[in-house]
Amino acid sequence: MAQVEGQLAGRTVFITGSGGVLGSTYVRRMLEQGAKVVATDLPGHRFDGLQETHGDNPDFAIYPLDVGSEEQIVEIFKTVEGDGWQPDVVLNNAAITGEMLMGAGGSFPDFADTTLDDWEKTMRTNLTGAFLVARQMDRDIVGKRPTTLINVASMYALNGAHHPIYDGMPFKNFSAYGVTKAGIHGLTVWLAGYWAKRQATVNTIAPGAVFNGHSDEFQKRVGELIMAGRMCEPDEIADAMLFLASKQSGYVTGQMINVDGGFSAW
Ligand SMILES: NC(=O)c1ccc[n+]([C@@H]2O[C@H](COP(=O)([O-])OP(=O)(O)OC[C@H]3O[C@@H](n4cnc5c(N)ncnc54)[C@H](O)[C@@H]3O)[C@@H](O)[C@H]2O)c1
Repeated sequence: MAQVEGQLAGRTVFITGSGGVLGSTYVRRMLEQGAKVVATDLPGHRFDGLQETHGDNPDFAIYPLDVGSEEQIVEIFKTVEGDGWQPDVVLNNAAITGEMLMGAGGSFPDFADTTLDDWEKTMRTNLTGAFLVARQMDRDIVGKRPTTLINVASMYALNGAHHPIYDGMPFKNFSAYGVTKAGIHGLTVWLAGYWAKRQATVNTIAPGAVFNGHSDEFQKRVGELIMAGRMCEPDEIADAMLFLASKQSGYVTGQMINVDGGFSAW
């Protein structure tokens, strides 16, 4: 059998929310680097797109998964392992953003008009979902083989949103979003010590502002807040993600890696 080469050769990566802007980039880059990739996402066009692009690749599998469903999470690693995949890297990437929440056409609410329902939906996906995946990883995987968990935060986890840059934009930064992203790093540092003796590491990656068709005006406003002076490409986040998913990150645990062009350093 030919020797598989690449930064992730021998790794099996399990990813939630795999069909989004960043998730689909991670899937592509990880496959290129020799990983086996077990993608998951809600059923729908993102799921179908991944299936269409990578479905013929023997190193790729995809499963429908709602990270807010305890019932589904309890079963997922058993199902995946039953099909012959043995994840050693788990990536808590799924998230609902304010934009996604309001995507049904509602106008973006001011803080005073934020509904409990929208707040709780965001908590359920971004934070409770990450907890459910981590808890299941503890039950089914940790201790059986060396593993790593990567939680995804944001440049708006430990820094407040710059509200003025959203003036007149069709989207704003949603309060619950930043709260969940701060919380997920709490899960990282808690678990890092808890899992240390079971050969499992846990880190947070905090992506900066990723370009996804934003207007020139928005790019200018946000670019002025970033040392690099610009938004980033999904591949620039994937570069750091590949390191965290690789064996080369073995001595890194409990950390938040900011990939934000210097946004958080000013
Ligand atoms: N794009 C950015 O600028 C940026 C910046 C900082 C952090 N992030 C974070 O990076 C991660 C990926 O972001 P993205 O830009 O690719 O977002 P995206 O909206 O393109 O993708 C998010 C994915 O999560 C999935 N998802 C939503 N609810 C789910 C649920 N209940 N169960 C399972 N999957 C669900 C969606 O279907 C989608 O595929 C998120 O955690 C996001 O918060 C993104």
